[in-house]
Amino acid sequence: MSQYSKKILITGGAGFIGSHVVNHFVRKYQEYQIVNLDALTYAANLENLKDIERATNYTFVKADITDKPAIDKLFAEYQITDVIHLAAESHVDRSIEDPTAFVKTNVLGTLNLLLTAKENWKAAMSSHRFYHISTDEVFGSLGETGFFTETTAYDPRSPYSASKASSDHFVRAFFHTYGIPVVISNCSNNYGPYQFPEKLIPLMINNILNKKALPVYGEGKNVRDWLWVGDHVAAMDLIFHKGATGESYNIGGNSEMKNIDLVHLICDLMDTKLGNQPGTSRGLIQFVKDRPGHDLRYAIDASLIKEQLSWSPSHTLMQGISKTIDWYLSNQEWLDHASSGEYIRYYEKHYMKK
Ligand code: NAD
Ligand code: TYD
Repeated sequence: MSQYSKKILITGGAGFIGSHVVNHFVRKYQEYQIVNLDALTYAANLENLKDIERATNYTFVKADITDKPAIDKLFAEYQITDVIHLAAESHVDRSIEDPTAFVKTNVLGTLNLLLTAKENWKAAMSSHRFYHISTDEVFGSLGETGFFTETTAYDPRSPYSASKASSDHFVRAFFHTYGIPVVISNCSNNYGPYQFPEKLIPLMINNILNKKALPVYGEGKNVRDWLWVGDHVAAMDLIFHKGATGESYNIGGNSEMKNIDLVHLICDLMDTKLGNQPGTSRGLIQFVKDRPGHDLRYAIDASLIKEQLSWSPSHTLMQGISKTIDWYLSNQEWLDHASSGEYIRYYEKHYMKK
């Protein structure tokens, strides 16, 4: 008999959201064994896990979810009882440059995990759980009004969102066809500590610190709903433990903002925190060529998770952005590591084209 009541495989646990999830589960649930599988792509950073890396209920395994024999071996070795699946290629701009990598990891990788779970769990299927983490981007783009609900029709419009939509469909298909006990959540744009500086908020913070141009796509009118990563983790904990099998839950921050307004907010907060003359950072803003197929607006109706699981976001955007900036200012070494090497080459290639 194992000393652990669950042996949870968390995929992508060295990435932004995954490392918050791993830190949370390892500390809070010492009765669970947490196995963190990550291929350590450019987006991963094991420094995010340094506080728990020696915990007795934690193990890291470097493996690729596209490698089915490696997944099979890992399930057998650790007798995995549950999966929380976050591993993905996650950046829309990269998906425009290389959609194939997104199909391989997001679609084929998810299928591999589902197949291995099906093969390993067949004796007592209902005692297991396969929790798939997805995005609101699968629903496409909203106009000026309206919200995505759990029943909004899928309408993905970027290679990234098409690959995530496809993975969601496979997860649902495995629920209906094989009875895999799945649950899915679709969430809005996360932000907070440990986010790789290719995404809007850390990119702007990093560039302000380095006095580099702040590239705003198009006219900066696109709207995103922003969710503090800790609030996402709290929602995931509830969904993993109490979410209804076969259900999907939308998670949103109730914090919509136009990109240009958000960039102004970051500029002004940074100027205050750095003791700059007001307006200094706004002077770095450059409007650049728009992202092809750029979705206009995302917004979430999170009433289902509120009603069923009593979850609501605890941070306003203002509180969360201020905390995020403070974290990056206190962790400039992390930012320097993250923005060296391969990322520099990507950044130059991507932004030199404009
Ligand atoms: P991220 O890019 O920061 O991290 C992804 C992690 O997955 C990295 O550690 C990477 O090494 C790992 N990975 C990539 N390919 C892999 C492979 N083939 N095998 C094993 N590991 C692999 O991503 P994130 O922002 O933390 O997003 C995590 C999940 O949440 C993704 O599934 C994403 O679609 C979803 N999501 C993200 C957001 C957001 O705003 N960041 C919003 C909604 C949903
Ligand atoms: P991003 O962080 O890439 O998330 P997503 O595309 O998944 O929503 O981008 C958030 C918004 O910011 C999106 O509308 C694109 C825009 N954006 C810029 O204007 N400039 C940038 O350099 C980046 C990375 C994004």
